[in-house]
Amino acid sequence: MKAAICTKYGSPEVIIIQDIPKPNPSKQQILVKIMATAVNSGDVRTRSLDAKGILKFLMRIVLGWSKPRKPILGTVFSGIVESVGNKVTTFKAGDKVFGMTGFNFGAHAEYIVVNENSHVLPKPENAGFDEAAAIVFGGQTAIYYLHKAKITQRQKAKVLILGATGSVGIAALQIAKYYKANITAVCSTQGEQIVNELGAEQILLYDKEGIFQCKENFDIVFDAVGKYSKNQCKHFLNKNGIFVTVKNGYAAETLQQLQLLKKLFEQGHLKAVIDKIFLLEEIVEAHRYVDTGRKKGNVVLKISHHQ
Ligand SMILES: NC(=O)c1ccc[n+]([C@@H]2O[C@H](COP(=O)([O-])OP(=O)(O)OC[C@H]3O[C@@H](n4cnc5c(N)ncnc54)[C@H](OP(=O)(O)O)[C@@H]3O)[C@@H](O)[C@H]2O)c1
Repeated sequence: MKAAICTKYGSPEVIIIQDIPKPNPSKQQILVKIMATAVNSGDVRTRSLDAKGILKFLMRIVLGWSKPRKPILGTVFSGIVESVGNKVTTFKAGDKVFGMTGFNFGAHAEYIVVNENSHVLPKPENAGFDEAAAIVFGGQTAIYYLHKAKITQRQKAKVLILGATGSVGIAALQIAKYYKANITAVCSTQGEQIVNELGAEQILLYDKEGIFQCKENFDIVFDAVGKYSKNQCKHFLNKNGIFVTVKNGYAAETLQQLQLLKKLFEQGHLKAVIDKIFLLEEIVEAHRYVDTGRKKGNVVLKISHHQ
């Protein structure tokens, strides 16, 4: 099978397409023919080992010292089950699925094997493969941080989303709306139309009028882009306000998050915002684009052309 191999840490060109053996599912695994995946901030960060000081050291320990221990990057996938191990009961050949692999990576390839009890589910009924792959990374991260900020316990919360046009921010906007929040979105002029269409009640353009003159208070301030500090934002918080940021901790993936994303997509609360679609062969270009830090929503990598 064809797979995108990250040969060392560095610029996008370190990724090369290679032919490697197709994996075989063990007794509790399913073999998925990947139709679509995504190139996310997590992939380009891993490829470039983008961190400073002690964090870089920790990343090397977790990901591999001189090159990624898991050379096939990609943490999300959608596709069709091709075969299953002899102990598998949940899935059968032909099932259309979507899922996430997290630190196991492996999705930038034509096939992947995953455990039937891992983060994999039937894909949303109404989603194309591109859409199913696009909603996972930002969606699960947004759920993690919004739940951490206790959005489910707050009635009609006032929420400020800083960086509302990234993969995480665009999902956070829609998921917070599902929880009946009143949203103020922070984005650039380039992103204004998208967040407007997704139903943000107020929009603050950081590249035009700035944001810190805003005198409103919020129940939740979510830095979904990792460029704002709690100190900068403390005047936005009301008495019981909570500040959460993607810079703090790791948004551990759970099956419940995937179940919620499936439900929200099927019920029309969540749309897949896809900025660009690349083919597997164009992965270097896809990495270059995600490296700009300016994508709106998600960059999909189409693996199979027959969708
Ligand atoms: N902790 C975790 O577990 C976890 C999980 C996922 C992601 N993350 C982190 O979360 C961050 C966001 O991830 P992502 O995948 O959403 O990234 P992304 O899709 O690459 O986000 C880029 C978006 O941010 C906007 N942006 C850039 N600078 C901004 C600013 N100063 N204010 C407001 N918006 C700005 C860009 O639009 P404009 O340039 O037009 O403004 C673009 O739409 C990354 O740093 C990533 O490493 C952490």
